[in-house]
Amino acid sequence: QGPKRIFSGMQPTGRLHLGNYLGALKNWVAMQDEDESERIYCVVDMHAVTMPHDAKALPDAVRRVTAAYLAAGLDPEKNVIFAQSAVPAHAELAWILNCVARLGWAERMTQFKDKGGKDRERVSVGLLTYPVLMAADILVYKATHVPVGDDQKQHLELCRDVAARFNRDFGDGEAVFPITEPLIQGPGARIMSLRDGTAKMSKSDPSDNSRINLEDDADTIARKIKKAKTDPEPLPDSIDGLDGRPEASNLVGIFAALTGGSKASVLAEYGGQGFGAFKPALAEVAVEYLAPISDEYRRLIAEPAEIDRILKKGAERARAVAEPVIAEAKAAIGF
Ligand code: ADP
Ligand code: NA
Repeated sequence: QGPKRIFSGMQPTGRLHLGNYLGALKNWVAMQDEDESERIYCVVDMHAVTMPHDAKALPDAVRRVTAAYLAAGLDPEKNVIFAQSAVPAHAELAWILNCVARLGWAERMTQFKDKGGKDRERVSVGLLTYPVLMAADILVYKATHVPVGDDQKQHLELCRDVAARFNRDFGDGEAVFPITEPLIQGPGARIMSLRDGTAKMSKSDPSDNSRINLEDDADTIARKIKKAKTDPEPLPDSIDGLDGRPEASNLVGIFAALTGGSKASVLAEYGGQGFGAFKPALAEVAVEYLAPISDEYRRLIAEPAEIDRILKKGAERARAVAEPVIAEAKAAIGF
């Protein structure tokens, strides 16, 4: 059992938000001083073109996600940070794996069913094979571990099935690809939308008021929290009292995540108070927490050449890992 190799990525579609930070980026940063792992983080621009997109805006969207990675504290020396499309081996392996994965596997993916809709004339073939591209992203580095949220579990299952099938059909008795494991993250910070406590906070939500973006300034954060949907009851004294109150539960959970406490400890302090008192306290905590990230983000975004330099170096490092793997996969399949 060699060192862990961790792979993950985010799409350059919209602005990164507090959910992306607490649910993913923060954990990535926490792992970067491990000696026993190698870490590869991609901005998955090839996934972003599976849905209608603005071609002229894509390069800046890639820079924005990269800036958010860096501002969150990911160190480009300790982690490989790059854009997917800069490493051709992703596309090469995706083609091979498209011929290994079965159509039924792709058609069963719930995300395809959700995003694809019913009209087959409007949905790209790329959206159907999106999870196969994701498998290629992971396997082209022989990644052993992938941090996944609930929404990506089914895609990781498909990646494991594809790897096993490739090994069986073309491995000549040896495993070419690992069967990648999910990396279970700490106490799952699942951050919900500010407008609806039951949908997850998402960059693809059309309403910007539904999320706190990492680049939001203090006034914007305060305004969004003030507007956040809540019920008229005061906060309960214990977490049982949050049952059936998804919006209250979400705001208390965000407060807990930002202060390193628990929902119970937050309620010990704020139980009995109304949102008129709790929301300003939450806004203050959020502004203070995000200020260093958004300051660094704004500095970086004004230096696109610095971001491009980091992406270029990262792509060189990524290619050096991917090239022997794609060569091995091509040889195995008879190219
Ligand atoms: P989005 O839905 O905002 O487009 P992605 O699907 O690109 O987010 O997810 C990027 C990463 O951020 C994944 O690791 C995902 O699990 C995590 N993530 C996304 N939204 C949330 C959330 N609301 N709470 C916690 N983690 C999240
Ligand atoms: Na998403």
